[in-house]
Amino acid sequence: SRTAAVIPAAGRGVRLGPGAPKALRPLNGTPMLIHAVRAMAASRAVSLVVVVAPPDGAAEVKSLLASHALPERTDFLVITGGDTRQESVKLGLDALPPGIDIVLVHDAARPLVPVDTVDAVIEAVRAGDPAVVPALPLADTVKQVEPREKGEPEPVVATPERARLRAVQTPQGFDRATLVRAHETVALSGEGATDDAGMVEQLGVPVVVVPGHEEAFKVTRPLDLVLAEAVLARRRA
Ligand code: CTP
Ligand code: MG
Repeated sequence: SRTAAVIPAAGRGVRLGPGAPKALRPLNGTPMLIHAVRAMAASRAVSLVVVVAPPDGAAEVKSLLASHALPERTDFLVITGGDTRQESVKLGLDALPPGIDIVLVHDAARPLVPVDTVDAVIEAVRAGDPAVVPALPLADTVKQVEPREKGEPEPVVATPERARLRAVQTPQGFDRATLVRAHETVALSGEGATDDAGMVEQLGVPVVVVPGHEEAFKVTRPLDLVLAEAVLARRRA
């Protein structure tokens, strides 16, 4: 079986604050996207990486891929993304060549996922699970609320049992045909899906969770940049 990784990297990074698109911002001098690409290409099972670039960013992404050291055995493809993460992933799937039968979808915003986590996801798909998600137990208790205007107190509706909750990460791994079917049939409005496995769940296909990794956290807010650079510094020490 051949495995490809689709990296949605077309977001603006509004929560990170003003500046370049999030995926192009540096972490210890190297763009976040390059860290994410290396994390996928580090797996010997991944033969192709499809980067879904920001609007107007495809040329810059191509030159970044050309100017950073990447494994010879891996092929790279750059396309332009859409208005939502879901659309960007769909465009990435549309660009896959024949012969790929396992697809990973990995956020550029999770640049530090260890290769062992990537390999564990691929292994689980190879072993027959059509949809595999790395995830971790939660530290915080979670409340479901009735949303109100910003600043207004929000009534609590429920407190799900924390021990049964998992915070999901990427790369999420799929049987290619299953993920393509999900993206062709599941309609979502507004922001679209924040998670590919959720779309597969809506098909009624089983999704399983495998252990995620602390270092696969998503860079979302400014404090996450501080953590990511500290993790990189610790790796080099
Ligand atoms: N993404 C994408 N296309 C979009 C929106 C998001 O490819 N239209 C990608 C982002 O580049 C990121 C991943 O989806 O790698 C996860 O999204 P998120 O962390 O929300 O990134 P942004 O949407 O860029 O950030 P924000 O929501 O703060 O604007
Ligand atoms: Mg977003």
